[in-house]
Amino acid sequence: MISPSILSADFTNIRRDFDIMNETKVDFVHVDIMDGNYVPNISFGPGIVSQLRKLTSIDFDVHLMIEKPENYIEDFVKAGANLITVHPNSTTHLNRTLNLIKSFGIKAGIVINPAENLDILKYTLSDINLLLIMSVNPGFGGQSFISSSLKKIREAREIIDNSGYNCLIEADGGIKLDNALEVYNAGADILVVGSAIFGKEDPTSEILKFKELLK
Ligand code: DX5
Ligand code: ZN
Repeated sequence: MISPSILSADFTNIRRDFDIMNETKVDFVHVDIMDGNYVPNISFGPGIVSQLRKLTSIDFDVHLMIEKPENYIEDFVKAGANLITVHPNSTTHLNRTLNLIKSFGIKAGIVINPAENLDILKYTLSDINLLLIMSVNPGFGGQSFISSSLKKIREAREIIDNSGYNCLIEADGGIKLDNALEVYNAGADILVVGSAIFGKEDPTSEILKFKELLK
């Protein structure tokens, strides 16, 4: 599956980029929320997300890179999130935050940064629908893929497959046409792709190339 990250989309022409995602029938729309505290960059908030919600019926995969995400879960649910992922070290009580997300009837996930290990899965796997593995340090689009992420994806795949739990693996950061298959084969179910789609002249043909590669 593919989840284009709109962080790299053209916000002066955002309807065009949503039309492209609608026409190519992507699986999710990846929405990166940054607060300038948890990560050194600021993107946008729930007000913008609820505006964007009018442009598609595709599920919004909302990646919160903010301090104390627990304070904003309801706002993002109301704005139209279908899945919310949080960074464990950004929230005071992770279990409570995951339960809060699911209490609104949407899916919940956790995010693992490049230098973080998978130990936390031991006590969270029963509570999450998705594990997001960062293959760059969170904060910016257009960075290079950190190759140790492949090993982590393989490890996560094994842990999840042996656990009996149903948990998707999503990989995020630095994914291009030339490494997508490797990431997919390592065990990722969903690939987030930002600049390799919206940074190109013709995003439609890039999405179609990814779809062709992964089918
Ligand atoms: C980084 C974001 C990513 C980013 C991916 O903090 O979480 O979702 O938009 O962009 P690319 O595909 O350009 O690395
Ligand atoms: Zn992201």
